[in-house]
Amino acid sequence: MTPAPDGRSLIPTGSGVIDAEHGAILDLLSVMTAGGPVGLAELTALRHEVAEHFATETAEMAVLTADRRERHEHAHRSYLAGIDALLDTAGRGDPVTVDDANRLMLWFIVHSNTADTELVEAGRRAGDEPPMITMDDWLDGLDEADRDALLS
Ligand SMILES: [Fe+2]
Ligand SMILES: [Fe+2]
Repeated sequence: MTPAPDGRSLIPTGSGVIDAEHGAILDLLSVMTAGGPVGLAELTALRHEVAEHFATETAEMAVLTADRRERHEHAHRSYLAGIDALLDTAGRGDPVTVDDANRLMLWFIVHSNTADTELVEAGRRAGDEPPMITMDDWLDGLDEADRDALLS
């Protein structure tokens, strides 16, 4: 399979909160892909960290179109389902392999570098939009004759 990229492949999104959470998840994944144990304890810790992180991102998703939001949420649900499947495997006493850990790492880096970067960018652009001037404010800025002419 495609070898998992290492942690240096993770591009900062520019959001301090999201990048800090990505770093914490990456630390857990890096231990697994380096041949560390991948058992119930490690997968449970990863699932907890990932679920909290996805909740952080969900709170930021109002800036996305409904279609993009659903696609992003769907990706998150699939990833959690993948971790749950590995938790089931480990719970049965079956081995979870380094290849499994590599897949988790690969998805996480690609998703962070694409969907999450898009999310942070969309949030930044939304914050850049000039404040909307109301019609009343605009009319107040006119002299009386112009205002009367427009309103007549
Ligand atoms: Fe993320
Ligand atoms: Fe995400």
